[in-house]
Parts: sequence; C-alpha cells; structure tokens
Amino acid sequence: MAVQLGKFQLEHPFILAPMAGITNSPFRRLMRRKKSALVISELISANGMQYTIKRTLDLLSFHEEERVVGIQIFGENTENLCKAAQMIEQRGADFVDLNLGCPVHKIVQKGAGSALCRNPIALGKLLSALVSSVKIPVTIKIRTGWDQTSRNALECIQAATDAGVHWVAIHGRTRAQGYSGLADWDFIGEMKAKSTIPILGNGDLTTAEMAVERLRTYKVDAVLIGRGALRNPFIFEQAECIWKGLKPHASTPEDYLALLNEHRELFGESFPPQIALLHVRKFLAWYSSGFPGCHEFRKKIFNIEEPEILWKEAEGFFELTSRGRDSSYLSQPFLMGGHG
Ligand SMILES: Cc1cc2nc3c(=O)[nH]c(=O)nc-3n(C[C@H](O)[C@H](O)[C@H](O)COP(=O)(O)O)c2cc1C
Repeated sequence: MAVQLGKFQLEHPFILAPMAGITNSPFRRLMRRKKSALVISELISANGMQYTIKRTLDLLSFHEEERVVGIQIFGENTENLCKAAQMIEQRGADFVDLNLGCPVHKIVQKGAGSALCRNPIALGKLLSALVSSVKIPVTIKIRTGWDQTSRNALECIQAATDAGVHWVAIHGRTRAQGYSGLADWDFIGEMKAKSTIPILGNGDLTTAEMAVERLRTYKVDAVLIGRGALRNPFIFEQAECIWKGLKPHASTPEDYLALLNEHRELFGESFPPQIALLHVRKFLAWYSSGFPGCHEFRKKIFNIEEPEILWKEAEGFFELTSRGRDSSYLSQPFLMGGHG
C-alpha cells in the first residue's frame, strides 16, 4: 500500500505540518524515522535569503535522511520568492512550499502569508512566476480565507491549479480565527471535492484514529499533523497501522527512552549543548503531557541547566510511563499561535 502525492510516492498519507522553531532539521530527521511520510521546514523569509545571513541560510540545510523534504518560504516580493525558490532547488530540496497561511500581524501587514490570498488574481500571477522559476514542484499552504465572510480558498486553489502548483494544503481556519475555534473539516472536504489537484487537510488532528477518520471521511489526499505530533511523536506510525487495517502499537516506556536517545543524538549533532538543551526542554514538556506527574516534571526540567542531569531526569520520568497516560490531555488546546 502506497500513495501517490503529486510526483512523490509515499508510504502513507500522514505528514508532519511545518512549525516555526520546531520543524528544524534534527526534528525533521527524527520524525522521518518515526514515519512522517515527508517533512517540510519551518517558514523562511525569502527577503532574508537575499542577504547571506548565516542564521537564515542555516535554516535551508537538510539531511539526506529527511527526503522527501520541502523547504517553506514566505514573502510578498515575487522576484525574491523566485530567487529563494531557485536557491532551494540548487541545494537539492525535493520541493518548495509557499506559506500563504501565516496570520501573524508583522508578516501580513507587509502583504505576505495569508494576506497574499486576499487577491486571487494577483496570487495567480505570483504563483505562475514561482512555478516557472524552478523545475522542482511548488506547493502552497493556505487557510480557508481571511475571515468568515471571505472564505475564498476555492478561488485560491483555482489560481494555484492554473499556475501549475503541485498541491494545496489547507489549515481549516480563517486568518481572523488565528488558532481559536475548530478547524472546519466540512469546508476542507468541500474544497477537495471541487479540486483537480491534490488537497491536504490540516487542523486539530490529535490522535492517530482521528487522522485516519478525517482522511477517509473528507477524502483528502493526505493530512498534515502539527501539534498532535508534539504530544504523541508516534502518531504517524500509529496512523499508518490503522490505515493499513493493523492494530497500532501502543507506545511503551522503551519507545520513549529510545526516542529520547535519538533526540539527544540528533540535536547534539546540530546544536551546541546549551542550545540543544533549550530545544529538548520544550519537547520533553510536550511529550510528558498527560502522564502522571507531568506538571512537577515540567517545573523541574525548566530549572535544570546541566544537560546530563536533564537527560537523567527525563529517563527516570519516562521509565515510569507504563503507569499510563490520561489521553484526554491529547485533545486539550495548546500552542495557540504559529505561522500558518
Ligand atoms: C508553534 C507553531 C508554529 C507554526 N509555524 C508554521 C510555519 O512555519 N509554517 C506554516 O505553514 N504553518 C505553521 N504553523 C501552522 C501549522 O502548520 C498547522 O497549520 C496548525 O498548527 C494547525 O494544525 P494542528 O492543529 O495539527 O497543529 C505553526 C503552528 C504552530 C503551533
């Protein structure tokens, strides 16, 4: 069983959503190992890429292990977006993804992110230029519309289709909603039914069961899972099992301990120890949600400055995860702000 998503053949249709400050190269490698069907970088400024700022250029790096890997860009200037796409192509990424969903004021006020979808005609021109500037596929990620009275995703999808965009991912909220309310999967399903290019659905998939159910009910070509994967990093392999009609493997303390070791190895390769520590603390806080003692554990780890002590503490905590997890935590809202 495999799926064809545009030109890419994937093992299954469950994909890690791009998240700023989170889907960096080591986490993408980890999630490919944990079976996200492909990975996408966090958003990177196309304007920033025109200057050789090391921090921006570092964000463009990826490891061979990540393939299939896409790099996401944002910006409002067509020329800079095309140049950025060409840089990404030269570096060998498999596709370039344009962020058209970012609701953040600083970005939309410059005309980038979700602001670009307000004028589908201008968007179509920009997308045509972008698609013709590179040979690799161009994909886009949008919201349902600017606000409830202007949900124009269909017009944007039509503009994308005419321009030769490879697929459209839809986060089922408007820009005005930010992260409040719920993703409107009926709307996503309606967009899918009316589209001729692949549509990826996204929003509020917190369990593997839900990911499979939404995929099947709304007949989308694939789903993106963001925050759900931060609380359950095994969600992709579990969803794949359910999708294939197999019983998913319930994660064990050994799975978490093995995951922590891989985290340590991959983040250690990419970052100096103190920076790795900052990243790892965040992940530990997310992974621990719902396990007995998670609140005390979180308080503790944010006060530990020494990486060795932090790892020991984490190992001790997850060795006890066989005590069971309160899975109602998985659907409680968290991280209610982001760039898409
Ligand atoms: C912390 C955070 C950062 C995000 N950064 C990006 C980003 O860089 N690019 C993007 O397209 N979407 C970004 N998003 C949006 C997610 O890709 C996704 O659309 C959104 O979280 C809804 O999916 P979920 O409910 O599965 O998390 C971000 C979301 C969060 C929570």
